[in-house]
Amino acid sequence: MSEHKTFYITTPIYYPSDKLHIGHSYTTVACDALARFKRMQGYDVMFLTGTDEHGQKIQDKAADAGVTPKEYVDKIVATVKDLWKLLDVSYDRFIRTTDDYHMESCQKIFTKLYEQGDIYKGEYIGHYCKPCESFWTDSQLVDGKCPDCGREVYDAHEEAYFFKTSKYADRLLKLYEENPQFIQPESRKNEMIAFIKQGLQDTCVSRTSVKWGIPVPFDPKHTMYVWVDALSNYISALGYGNEKYHDYDKFWPADLHMVGKEILRFHTILWPAMLMALDLPLPKHLAVHGWITFNGQKMSKSIGNVVDPLVLGERYGADAIRYHILREMALGADSSFSNEIMINRINADLANDLGNLVSRTVAMAEKYFGGTLPECREADEELDASLIDPALELRDKVAAYMDQTQLNNALAEIFKVISRANKYIDETTPWILGKDESRKARLASVLYNLLEVIRITTTL
Ligand code: ME8
Ligand code: MG
Repeated sequence: MSEHKTFYITTPIYYPSDKLHIGHSYTTVACDALARFKRMQGYDVMFLTGTDEHGQKIQDKAADAGVTPKEYVDKIVATVKDLWKLLDVSYDRFIRTTDDYHMESCQKIFTKLYEQGDIYKGEYIGHYCKPCESFWTDSQLVDGKCPDCGREVYDAHEEAYFFKTSKYADRLLKLYEENPQFIQPESRKNEMIAFIKQGLQDTCVSRTSVKWGIPVPFDPKHTMYVWVDALSNYISALGYGNEKYHDYDKFWPADLHMVGKEILRFHTILWPAMLMALDLPLPKHLAVHGWITFNGQKMSKSIGNVVDPLVLGERYGADAIRYHILREMALGADSSFSNEIMINRINADLANDLGNLVSRTVAMAEKYFGGTLPECREADEELDASLIDPALELRDKVAAYMDQTQLNNALAEIFKVISRANKYIDETTPWILGKDESRKARLASVLYNLLEVIRITTTL
């Protein structure tokens, strides 16, 4: 048994249908920042990411490329791991849904739900959106297109298994009402309540026309619907239903699933309903973020309007890219990606504000004291307090924002103190103090305060 508090955080597992872009990098880097922060606070952290490798989209992509689906995903998954390495992502575990242990867990979950009557056989007549891997009824379509992404759907008519999502509608509504913090930001909750109140359909959870999937163990001409397979990763990766890992008791329920808004419904309806059916505890929080857009559209692999983070990372460095995406994205809101805004931010915040603070302070410590401050001190109580107080309050402020997944606000607070420190240099004029032998103690205090602020802000 661990004596530490635990923290389990997950990214979505991404489709390796194509190379990942700056949108996926945003989610992963945000989770990484949270995981690092929690580790620093003494939590025993499990940070999970991975890839969602089955389904029709991948099957078709591989066929187009003339390779097997496994060959296709193996290649992309290698680039995904390279990307996380380049961006300094400190995940603890990487799950691939083609891993044997995961497939074993999914088959156990599916069989259990079937045996207890939560999954039943029927016939699916409706539509399917391949980019979203989602089923739609006639009445849900908007102008004949997918209501989520606006793209073409195709007619699907096949024998299929269904999961009794509808049975859990009342419990889901109760979940959101009793736990207003379950969905962050809270505004997203109303959307889900409205969706459920329209009448919840059972979910089609198998395909006979898709070969690239986990076989339904008791009826192997069916493969499992890719979203049932994918959502199960959050527990299979801890060892639920397999012997590969033994961390389920320690880490479940998850503290935070972070997801983009287009997959909110799967995480607020299908996933909690599956867990209710399995009689397992529910995740504590879902943090839902908006999209990085490009020319007003969601940046997307299937649209192809992507910014390659490998290219950016090689040119500007991981820290600059990480800083930019975390500083720019407000939780819940969309944000358009622009090289210009990114370069301005790197120049203004990192080079100018932070860079100048560090280089000026270090240069003066070197010039006046040979790099080591003497012990003599002379305070200017009021002026010093105007720098020290905000620096001392910073940790709690940042922690509060991190707990609300407001990373941009956490960074804004940190940079307020950095700005204050730059102003403090102008106010204390250390280059004038340096000319006067009798002001050495005052100069040492000024530089000490600045170095402390640099230590605190850069650690945070
Ligand atoms: O949906 N802006 O995978 P996916 C911000 N396999 N975030 C973005 C983004 C953008 N333009 N584009 C992608 C899937 N993302 C499923 C998930 S989970 C059990 C299964 C991020 O490859 C964002 O987190 O389409 C989004 O939800 C996720 O990537 C979707 O990745
Ligand atoms: Mg997507």
